[in-house]
Amino acid sequence: MTAAEALRARWDAVMMPTYGTPAVAIARGTGCRVWDADGVEYLDLIAGIAVSALGHGHPALVEAVGRQVATLAHSSNLFVHEPGIALAERLVGLLGGGGRVFFCNDGAEANEAALKIARRHGRTADPGGGRLGVVAAEDGFHGRTLGALSLTGTPAKREPFAPLPGPVTFVPYGDAAALRAAVTERTAAVFLEPTLGEGGVVPPPPGYLAAARAACDAAGALLVLDEVQSGIGRTGAWFAHQGEGVRPDVVTLAKGLGGGLPIGACVAFGAAGSLLTAGQHGSTFGGNPVACAAALAVLDTIERDGLLASVRAVGERLAAGLAGIDSPLVRGVRGSGLWRALVLTRPVAADLEAAARRAGVLVNAVRPDAVRVAPPLVLSAAEADRGVAALAAAAAELEGAATVGASSTVAEKGSS
Ligand SMILES: Cc1ncc(COP(=O)(O)O)c(C=O)c1O
Repeated sequence: MTAAEALRARWDAVMMPTYGTPAVAIARGTGCRVWDADGVEYLDLIAGIAVSALGHGHPALVEAVGRQVATLAHSSNLFVHEPGIALAERLVGLLGGGGRVFFCNDGAEANEAALKIARRHGRTADPGGGRLGVVAAEDGFHGRTLGALSLTGTPAKREPFAPLPGPVTFVPYGDAAALRAAVTERTAAVFLEPTLGEGGVVPPPPGYLAAARAACDAAGALLVLDEVQSGIGRTGAWFAHQGEGVRPDVVTLAKGLGGGLPIGACVAFGAAGSLLTAGQHGSTFGGNPVACAAALAVLDTIERDGLLASVRAVGERLAAGLAGIDSPLVRGVRGSGLWRALVLTRPVAADLEAAARRAGVLVNAVRPDAVRVAPPLVLSAAEADRGVAALAAAAAELEGAATVGASSTVAEKGSS
């Protein structure tokens, strides 16, 4: 048994089976490369599900985290500290000002905070409880805790845990007319991703977010944009919604923010920023100094190294390369920046993910017919080319294999 096989066997024995048994036992990483426990090298084109923004072992992250652990690792919310305040100021500035921040530990918690803000908004507007509704998108994903799950537009993920908080109305993503029809004076908030992430990297039609803003304004509802996956440079803008010229009431963040350290943030603007009052929400670890120092290092590095421009340029090159893969299995490419889905003609994404691994590249079967590519934001043009070549080889291997058409269990289980 190899070292990686031994780790997988130990995982099998002790971990809850929520993820099945992951195929790779990762041991270490540098930049966009990782090695498994047997020393096998992979090009990391998934970055821990769109998280490791600076890649692995980035000196700025290592320095910031090491320095902060040595200075003050934890304080709880009983005390204020410089890294937390500096990060909040920085995020509010990047988001255009006028906001207040609640720090938490991941994306689901950020959406829980946003849902509680929505409840307070609804109860303030109608103390009788007539404005508690939320509108969210079919195939949208907002997390696994009960509140975040209640907003997640996949019945198979919700139903085992019913009843969930509500009422939540789900509308087809990208259909502005359906959204307008669903948002009424009983709606406290609309929750949307600027592009569906777990739904398969599906951008909406142009003007969709602006239509959502207008529908919320007309009905007096909050617009909550879940930028947990799309934010912090992933699309080549600091935040995906900025390209649409829309100002949300609430933005939720996590994933890339800490560059691999766990941190989430709920940022609310104007009156929404003061709806949760003293004692109404909290987190022991949220805004932990080490996680905040890591996030500041991520933001500094994105800025200093011009990574937003790089994400746009390398992302275009990556997309063109993926679209150029000459295979009957490839239908096309969706997404923006370094956040793409290779869309397949058949539901063989899990097979392609496995073939890509054999070709030395880590990607993720985000849907049965779509493979997600979400590498570190530091991906170079040469690494993008290498990834495309490996995926082309993987598609060619699959075309020749008798297993084409085998069902895509990993994709059906989902990844987050
Ligand atoms: C858009 C979006 N929101 C929320 C979440 C949940 O984040 P977490 O897994 O950190 O709780 C995810 C995770 O994939 C996500 O993509």
